[in-house]
Amino acid sequence: MKRIIIDTDAGVDDALAILLAFGQKDVKIEAFTTVNGNVDVDKTTANVLKILDLVGQDVPVYRGCPQPLVAPVFNAASIHGVDGLGDAGIPASKRQPEKKHAALALVDLANQYPGEISLIAIGPLTNLAAALTLDPDLPHKFADLTIMGGAIYARGNTNVTAEFNIYADAEAARVVFERWPKVRVLSWETTMLYPFNGEQVAHFFNMGTAKSKFFHDIYQKTLGFLREKFHQDLLFSADGLAVACAIDPSIITRKEEHFMEVELHGASTRGLTAVDWFGLGGKPANAEIILELDHARYVQMIEDGLR
Ligand code: RIB
Ligand code: CA
Repeated sequence: MKRIIIDTDAGVDDALAILLAFGQKDVKIEAFTTVNGNVDVDKTTANVLKILDLVGQDVPVYRGCPQPLVAPVFNAASIHGVDGLGDAGIPASKRQPEKKHAALALVDLANQYPGEISLIAIGPLTNLAAALTLDPDLPHKFADLTIMGGAIYARGNTNVTAEFNIYADAEAARVVFERWPKVRVLSWETTMLYPFNGEQVAHFFNMGTAKSKFFHDIYQKTLGFLREKFHQDLLFSADGLAVACAIDPSIITRKEEHFMEVELHGASTRGLTAVDWFGLGGKPANAEIILELDHARYVQMIEDGLR
């Protein structure tokens, strides 16, 4: 049984990733921790509770940090909708989050089940940085850490060189890469290698299930944004790829380990994830960078999640 915790800024691709996780056999989601990112933390928390209503599962949800460690709050409502789920009118859940803060929940669960839980972060890394400050041994108490984050070739999606999850809280990301010995990284550039085209999107939208309809409804705003930006029907599922690789690393077909650090002060490069591809700095690799994966297996996992 693969036991996981998902730290999320539940937005639309987070929602798809969460459905993917629920659709996999032998996976137990121990908890969700929520963070400010695509939208504010009250909305990201409310969105996870809505998804629990959809899948009919009871998983504890811990509300996390409402703002980055240092930077001002930065959101992506233009892509994910004001409510974070495409403003599709998904009804509010009656469920409530746990009282405990997400950072404390990460520390407590890691200490309660040392080495047994895989941590997956698909939003800004604020909760993880806070938890690391509370318990610096955390990396040795989780089985592993996989993040969706970074622009490994500096092809950013938020500023010129930075990917959103890193840019939104660059200080938190720097802390995580400095203090977590090995982070599995699913970057924005690797995400862009595996878009879903119009035909595949239509297939996912028309599976005749409640989850498929939910996915259709929440993605309309994002698809409109992508059509406007890329002038074609493309759908990127960054978080889904990260969760799939974390749940089943055997779908990773090419990866490299290198030292990676986060730029904080560059005039135009804040949030840059600088990868030492040639080992010039002589520092030990702290990132397992996913370069290619088995897309057919990934499509199967998405279908499992929408069934
Ligand atoms: O850059 C993509 C990432 O930013 C995804 O996690 C998406 O949900 C947003 O948080
Ligand atoms: Ca996300």
